[in-house]
Amino acid sequence: MRRVVVVNGPNLNLLGKREPHIYGTRSLDDLNRFVNETAKQLDLEVSAFHSNHEGEIIDFLQKQGPGSAGIVINPGAFSHYSLAIYDCLQALALPVVEVHLSNIHAREEYRSKSVTARAARGVITGLGFKGYELALRYLAEEK
Ligand code: DQA
Repeated sequence: MRRVVVVNGPNLNLLGKREPHIYGTRSLDDLNRFVNETAKQLDLEVSAFHSNHEGEIIDFLQKQGPGSAGIVINPGAFSHYSLAIYDCLQALALPVVEVHLSNIHAREEYRSKSVTARAARGVITGLGFKGYELALRYLAEEK
């Protein structure tokens, strides 16, 4: 069975409580359930991870990335400045889909730039949980 890595970065553990007008009222547990159910339908196994810490995200990607079919990552605010996560994604040389729940282009100017997105095949932004489904579907179909 194909395995994919799903990573959520800083403050996404606050989903449901954090700025619900932007991120919605569903929690990270709800998101993980949604990801697992979607993956099951697509015959994918998921290695899911959340951390508020850059180094922990890198350690997880370095450990779980190799041998996987690709990575779905919402790096949270790290998207906007973490060259370390960018370098890690580049080094792994796997298909990467970057996902943002909110539309980063419709918010503050500083959010519209993602340094990590340069390592991604594509970016899905502003579609909420649906973005993760589309990302998983892409990795499930990608040869
Ligand atoms: C986010 C957008 C980022 O700008 C922000 O820092 C986040 C969440 C999103 O999913 O919309 O933490 O990645």
